Amino acid sequence: MADHHINRVLGIETSCDETAASVVDGGSAIVSSVVSSQIDLHARYGGVVPELAGRAHVELLTPVLSDALAQAGSDTSGTGIDAIAVTYGPGLIGSLLVGVAEAKALSMVWGVPMVGVNHLEAHLFASLLEQPDLGWPLVVLLVSGGHTLLIEVTEPGRYRLLGGTIDDAAGEAFDKVARYLGLGYPGGPAIDRLAELGDPGAFAFPRSLPGDGYDFSFSGLKTSVVNTVRKHPDAATEDVAASFQQAVVDVLVTRARRAAADTGARAVCLAGGVGANSLLRRRIEEACAHDGIGAFLPSRALCTDNAAMVAAAGWWRLRNGGPSPLNLGADPNLRLVSVP
Ligand code: KG4
Ligand code: ZN
Repeated sequence: MADHHINRVLGIETSCDETAASVVDGGSAIVSSVVSSQIDLHARYGGVVPELAGRAHVELLTPVLSDALAQAGSDTSGTGIDAIAVTYGPGLIGSLLVGVAEAKALSMVWGVPMVGVNHLEAHLFASLLEQPDLGWPLVVLLVSGGHTLLIEVTEPGRYRLLGGTIDDAAGEAFDKVARYLGLGYPGGPAIDRLAELGDPGAFAFPRSLPGDGYDFSFSGLKTSVVNTVRKHPDAATEDVAASFQQAVVDVLVTRARRAAADTGARAVCLAGGVGANSLLRRRIEEACAHDGIGAFLPSRALCTDNAAMVAAAGWWRLRNGGPSPLNLGADPNLRLVSVP
């Protein structure tokens, strides 16, 4: 069933508010990667508007695909492309369907196999693009706008979920607090920048969920930020941002570090948009150096949504399970599952 003649894979990503296409060779060499963000479209609403996102994907996907193909020395006839990988969940249903429909159409017209990719697994493969020789087992901290997961990866394709958030995702907390502080959307990068100018010790925000589990909770922290700003209307926004970021990062680093120790991981790996956070990157690096294990920090562009990670995960899935049927649907609630 596995097809070992597949080199160049076209990846398509439309699960949320990034329209992206990329050509990756041999599962790890990025030949082209184009990401068109819809930030301007959604910024004035303070968050992603699903209906608008789906429509924007319809308009943007063709030019984004043409760009990615042209930069890879190909064209819309798919010259030199051996397979197509597309995100089919989790995400916004109307957005996912745009990518899935396009992938099916191209697969039929070009006569190449197509494979559906889990967006979460794609984030895990982002680190392999830059470090193809990652050692196992690994602990991955996957922190994005929709997810906060601590995952043990015993080998590629073998996952054990250690913990997750019981309320808001880490990126969601950044976005909500930023909106409350009037910093705009997306909130993560705005807080990251502003926090550099503030005092992280100015306010002692709660560190959420005591105990030795691996789960996270960020809604209490968010409420605490709101209450603090109400009580101290003159507080410098920089100080609030820095103290909030410090609290989130403390919790993420503490849990990830303990998970690595408990599972005997050889390294901790960051994935997802919040993995672009400067303080989180610094603190994970310091913690891992202290504990004598590796730290893999994908470049910021590979932490946030992109299609190179989709192509990489698709290439691997094609070799370890084969293509998807052409009646592939989209699943907004798709979960991360190991290969059989
Ligand atoms: O992985 P991603 O691009 O999309 C999802 O799959 O959700 O993650 C987006 C999330 C947003 O919540 C955004 O605010 C957050 O990642 N983010 C950051 C930073 N850059 C992006 N959070 C903190 N610091 C950053 N530098
Ligand atoms: Zn993502």
